[in-house]
Amino acid sequence: MESSASVVLVEPANMSPRKKTVIDILKSRADFVSGQEISDSLGISRNAVHKHVNSLRDRGYRIVGISRRGYRLEEEPGRLAMPIVAKLTQGSLFGTAFRYHDEIESTNNEAKRLAEEGAPEGTVVVSESQSAGKGRLGRRWTSPAGKGLLFSIVLRPGLPLSEAHLLTFATAISVAEAIEAQARVPVHLKWPNDLIVDNRKAGGILLEISGEHDRADWVVAGVGINVNTEHVELPAGLRRSATSLKIATGKSVDRTVLLARALLTLERTYRECLEHGFNRALQSFRERDYLLHRSVSVSTGQGAVVGEAVGIDERGALLVQALDRRTRRFHSGDVTLHR
Ligand code: BTN
Repeated sequence: MESSASVVLVEPANMSPRKKTVIDILKSRADFVSGQEISDSLGISRNAVHKHVNSLRDRGYRIVGISRRGYRLEEEPGRLAMPIVAKLTQGSLFGTAFRYHDEIESTNNEAKRLAEEGAPEGTVVVSESQSAGKGRLGRRWTSPAGKGLLFSIVLRPGLPLSEAHLLTFATAISVAEAIEAQARVPVHLKWPNDLIVDNRKAGGILLEISGEHDRADWVVAGVGINVNTEHVELPAGLRRSATSLKIATGKSVDRTVLLARALLTLERTYRECLEHGFNRALQSFRERDYLLHRSVSVSTGQGAVVGEAVGIDERGALLVQALDRRTRRFHSGDVTLHR
């Protein structure tokens, strides 16, 4: 049976005719093409060619450049097979309305915009790259085009605002389960939203909530996973603390299947949380708790507290036994591990 999902392939990010020509020239040759030859064909300077090549690299084209030989195209950016995602998730809440982009500012921002416009629950925004991907605490989330999974889901859980934030835990455990099932690598969770593989960060969740009168109107659950990112493609400052599934397992992971698995697992967890509450999700998060019994420092607006992480309570707060032996509860904050 044909899938009835709507998959909107939003227009690929506009590529200038010159960049297209650079790609066409590189694709027409198996070997190096000199910068001079490209600049002659386009009637532009060698410096301009170099700039086009760099911007193509940002879009996920792997182009090697060697002085006196020129440029060679090694790899084109990967693309998710969205019709397959739609087929694999057919009939599920998160398998009905997909909006797929080559490039977007942030899938969370787009999902929020759609939610405000009245998009139905289950709308999924996916992109191969983001120009301003957002992480928690105002940080950036960067990922080379076609290498990670970047998606956001519109949820309308009708929960009180005091409970809606627990969907972070539901999302994190679902994504962890999906990764384990597919990549066969253990995933731990660092409170409140980091996916840890091999003691490094491989992904994160960014939940954004809107509501009034103590009821969530919509929730956007954003997920970023470093899937097939190579070590050199990680931001230079994060190469010691970040990883990808490919780096951890030594194998490429099928992003299309992983996306479908994550959506299906998330649907199961989501329905269960709405029906029976968040206890199981929190318990499952505790079973993967990366911080438990480690020495941590939690920074909040009011300063930092050092102590031992001793668990996560029923409201999702991190429990830290401080140096004065008193247990503190954190509903937000930035946690650093003391090794
Ligand atoms: C974090 O670890 O701080 C959270 C990272 C969340 C990143 C994802 S990528 C898809 C979605 N769109 C965004 O702008 N952010 C989230």
